Amino acid sequence: MTWLPRLPPRLPLGTLPTPLVDAPRLRAELGCGPLRIKRDDLAGFGIAGNKTRPLEYLLGDAQAHGVDVLVTGGGPDSNFVAAAAMAARVAGIACELVVWGGASRGRPAPGPTPNLALAEAAGARLVPLGDDRRERVDVVVAERAAELRAAGRRPLAVPRGGSTPVGAAGFARAAAEVLDQCVRLDGAFPATVVLPLGSGGSTAGLLVGLAAAGADTTVLAVSVSRPPEEITPKVLDLGRACAAALGTAPPREDRLEVVDHRGPGFGRASAADRDAAATVLRTEGLLLDDTYGAKAFAVALARLRAGPVHEERPGPVVLWHTGGVASALTHLGETVPATTGAP
Ligand SMILES: Cc1ncc(COP(=O)(O)O)c(C=O)c1O
Repeated sequence: MTWLPRLPPRLPLGTLPTPLVDAPRLRAELGCGPLRIKRDDLAGFGIAGNKTRPLEYLLGDAQAHGVDVLVTGGGPDSNFVAAAAMAARVAGIACELVVWGGASRGRPAPGPTPNLALAEAAGARLVPLGDDRRERVDVVVAERAAELRAAGRRPLAVPRGGSTPVGAAGFARAAAEVLDQCVRLDGAFPATVVLPLGSGGSTAGLLVGLAAAGADTTVLAVSVSRPPEEITPKVLDLGRACAAALGTAPPREDRLEVVDHRGPGFGRASAADRDAAATVLRTEGLLLDDTYGAKAFAVALARLRAGPVHEERPGPVVLWHTGGVASALTHLGETVPATTGAP
């Protein structure tokens, strides 16, 4: 990686780079300029999507430090928990997952979602929180890691979404990947990258990779779970810590736009979000989930329909398809907005 000479140890999990594809039918429907879709739904590790990327560095780091158990967590429909369980398997270490959601017969409600079933099948131990206070997950993860340490184990505690400076390196690398692809395909860096924003690691890492390359690209981050005034400083702090660890330039605050698109709530898509997802499925055959993809694409499509986005710069607009296939299939065909899990 030319722009990132000091990346931490990496456990390869995904089939990278993911494709950067043209979207001619969507482009024609919107009547917009150069448009590309980054297919992290095809990241090639289970159904982990974008979460493959932080896990490559988190598990690489865990192996380098002799960790024997990964402790992390998320919601009942979290893509990250399933992906973490599988990644721990590949690294040859145990995995414990703290899962929020009301308990039902010893399991986190609303029963074994595909992601939790996958995590269990991959051998992870689930620790149900028994309530819906998502913010408690990271606290209980740290407590459980302390218990394991006291018992002689060598745990690594990772907060929800894998959003640590090490985890964010995954998306710093992704930035280098997409810049390379855009230069080859379009002869220019992207003008704008649009992606969903949950726990923040993906956006933070992306900003770090873009700054390291000196790219003028704007990141339009669509916040799905927290108000911008709460999540933006977290993203920038995380980006600064990641950049410091990688020895690169800090993220450019002036190139980050965070849009509040929580809409009806976390995991609940509005009719307009569902409409955007239906347009993308009908034109390009891509499946988007209610929690992340439908919301990010809804914002992007509305902008692109309204006129050129950052036309002063020559490159394409890149829409990042981050995955979310498990919940997309679970809620496909529902007409009532669905409630799904957290990052
Ligand atoms: C499919 C999908 N897209 C986007 C995100 C958001 O990424 P981040 O938590 O790094 O902001 C997640 C988080 O779990 C996800 O599963």
